[in-house]
Amino acid sequence: MLQLVEPEALRGTLLAWFDRCRRDLPWRRTEDPYEILVAEIMLQQTRSEVVATRYRGFLDRFPRVGALAEARVESVEAAWSGLGYYRRARNLHRAARILVERRTLPASAAEWAELPGIGAYTSALLASRCSGEASPVLDGNVERVLSRFLASAEPPRRAAARRRLLATAARLLDGSRPGDSNQALMEVGSLVCRRGAPDCGACPLAPGCLAFRSRELDPRAFPVAGPRRAREVRHCFTAVVQRGGELLLHRRPGDADWLAGRWHLPTVELASGDEPVRAAEVLGREFGGCWECDEPAVMVRHAVTYRDFLVRAAVARWRTERRPDESTGDRVPAEGSALAWFGREEIEGLPTSSLLRKTLDTVGVTLDSVGVNCADPPIHSGP
Ligand code: ADE
Repeated sequence: MLQLVEPEALRGTLLAWFDRCRRDLPWRRTEDPYEILVAEIMLQQTRSEVVATRYRGFLDRFPRVGALAEARVESVEAAWSGLGYYRRARNLHRAARILVERRTLPASAAEWAELPGIGAYTSALLASRCSGEASPVLDGNVERVLSRFLASAEPPRRAAARRRLLATAARLLDGSRPGDSNQALMEVGSLVCRRGAPDCGACPLAPGCLAFRSRELDPRAFPVAGPRRAREVRHCFTAVVQRGGELLLHRRPGDADWLAGRWHLPTVELASGDEPVRAAEVLGREFGGCWECDEPAVMVRHAVTYRDFLVRAAVARWRTERRPDESTGDRVPAEGSALAWFGREEIEGLPTSSLLRKTLDTVGVTLDSVGVNCADPPIHSGP
């Protein structure tokens, strides 16, 4: 009969391994809850190597929670540039304002979870690192480590499997260093218990790991896959409109289900049967004014998790139906319009997405050919 070491007996081994082997990352050198909060939000969807290149710059720009709370959301988004998923920047900004208003730090995972953009995993991690609460975390790395540890036959996202994994994570937590225990488990997932190439010989959890200890099992077979989500295809049309040295962009609504809150080329969704020739009409309905699109349009494919966006893009012209205002030229915004002209340097400071550059490249427009319009100071509003 296989004798496995109990999780509780591995707490010390796990922490000793972490003390010896952990990567020296900037967010591990601080005990400041604000700095930890910023790091953990950045790390939610961005790899640590990328976060490491942006983290200090963000904190230099907003060194304290008060500075972040006072800032305009646009400057927070600009400082977030390169990290992607800009909704996190807006949520972090809102969270900072709430923290400043409350004047106290959350004291538990439940209180951290009241802040925008902080779900079960981040609230548990923050409570363990900032409030000393023994709250276990389950991210993708920990799911893999513990699915192997238990040789769990269920996909880790199933509720029953999650409960078992979380219970094991809790048993591995050292109550005197819960933040380090959580980070240690995540670090084992990043450095040792890797997806395709686990290094079981170097793993501090090996003495209790069923997938490793059992001769019949291969750790790489865990976690077992859940049912695949069917991919969804969405058909879109994007207009590339230039004026002088500027490009026409659209600020997408904060609740859009893709590119939320990002500046992007004016884009409409077409029903799957719609011909791209109808795009001008749909653009007019969505953004107002008169649109004229070159043909043929080029195709840009963009995959976001389970969605495939098939985007036809073309150079286009746009003219507003209103008469330009005498005093401000033709930069007067249409009521509620989220369209605006930008030069290249300004675009670089905006929250955009990789799809913007990909689309311009495919259409054959380089950002370099979109110069800065020096004669005319930019007014960020519609035409
Ligand atoms: N992933 C997200 N936050 C982390 C942390 N603090 N340590 C290791 N991996 C992480």
